[in-house]
Amino acid sequence: MKIIVTGGAGFIGANFLQLLVPRFRQHQFINLDSLGYASNLASLEGIDDSPNYVFEKVDIAEHEAVDEAFARHRPDLVVHFAAESHVDRSIVGPREFIRTNIEGTFNLLEAARKYFASGSGLFHHVSTDEVYGSLGEVGSFTEESRYDPSSPYSASKAAGDHLVRAWSRTYGLPVKITNCSNNYGPRQFPEKLIPLMVLHALERKPLPVYGQGRNTRDWLYVDDHCEAIWAVIEKGRVGETYNVGGSFEARNIDIVRSICRVLAECTGCSEGELTDLITFVGDRPGHDLRYAIDSTRIRRECGWAPRETFESGLRKTIRWYLDNRSWVEQIRTRDYTGWIERNYGGRGDHRE
Ligand code: NAD
Ligand code: DAU
Repeated sequence: MKIIVTGGAGFIGANFLQLLVPRFRQHQFINLDSLGYASNLASLEGIDDSPNYVFEKVDIAEHEAVDEAFARHRPDLVVHFAAESHVDRSIVGPREFIRTNIEGTFNLLEAARKYFASGSGLFHHVSTDEVYGSLGEVGSFTEESRYDPSSPYSASKAAGDHLVRAWSRTYGLPVKITNCSNNYGPRQFPEKLIPLMVLHALERKPLPVYGQGRNTRDWLYVDDHCEAIWAVIEKGRVGETYNVGGSFEARNIDIVRSICRVLAECTGCSEGELTDLITFVGDRPGHDLRYAIDSTRIRRECGWAPRETFESGLRKTIRWYLDNRSWVEQIRTRDYTGWIERNYGGRGDHRE
């Protein structure tokens, strides 16, 4: 089978390839990525010289480049990860989110429609629980929950989901969609909550918690998400949507305290020295209060369940960042420092 993976130099795409390239030597994996700020080719070390893996620098928003890649490789399966993925960046500059997450998805759907052999092929769209908007104190998102996105990021992902369903209903394109909760693990760009806090704590910089830290997310270890995607590809129904979550809900402030606890244990410093760095800063506009996922459908139909607990996954993640300082340095040399200044510079200290 020929598998095009978009965004395979980013966090989840790279972890997906790290798991599957060695497992399925009989399949050919083609990684299409534009090598944006969140990508790192070092995330592919160990598989990048495998005979069943090839990388091509392709911007999915350029339809000729996408068409050429599909014409050359004639994929049987597309796993579409490529996206602008950071909510805060979408608030500061939404244009790139519309371009990649909507136009890029459109280009891929059109290419799949053109180049999938008639009646075959599968387009797997990797999406987010943020399309459903925010929950109150109780309840969880099911596949039937109403779309109600809050940020430019989630609105662009929602638009992508709608395009995928429309191409299925109108043109009969075989598609599947997964909507997943917050991922964490190795190789995540340190703009996202967990790696940002780990690195700031290691460097004794302030740990910026938005608002009062009461916003709640459902956390899933990245390998569990990748296995969920593969389980849906293998066992899920064509045309169907599957919600994926870790059934581990926690308030942001409690996640940050857990990071301080585990990091103190791993490095031998005092936990108090790290928790003293916690700083409440100005909130994210349109900040969703709570996400929680009902993953009954994927569990029942695809036999999937997460393997890691949050505690075991967090330990693995922190260990990885401690052991891979050169990966961090590589990724930080680009846009990173400028982003930290732009995002946190004006928020101020809202210590109560
Ligand atoms: P990421 O930002 O770490 O990686 C995205 C990758 O896409 C990067 O390698 C980037 O270079 C590439 N990319 C961006 N624009 C591109 C373009 N125009 N053409 C080609 N490549 C491009 O993101 P991630 O966290 O790995 O997320 C991957 C996917 O999973 C996204 O679709 C995201 O919406 C979805 N998702 C993420 C999470 C999460 O918690 N991170 C949860 C649920 C769903
Ligand atoms: O729910 C799935 C989504 O999870 C994915 O679709 C997105 O691609 C991914 O980025 C993630 O979105 P979030 O906005 O939930 O993740 P982030 O790590 O940016 O923030 C997690 C929570 O922590 C959120 O409530 C905002 C808060 N936060 C974040 C940062 C970066 C802080 O309090 N301080 C911070 O510095």
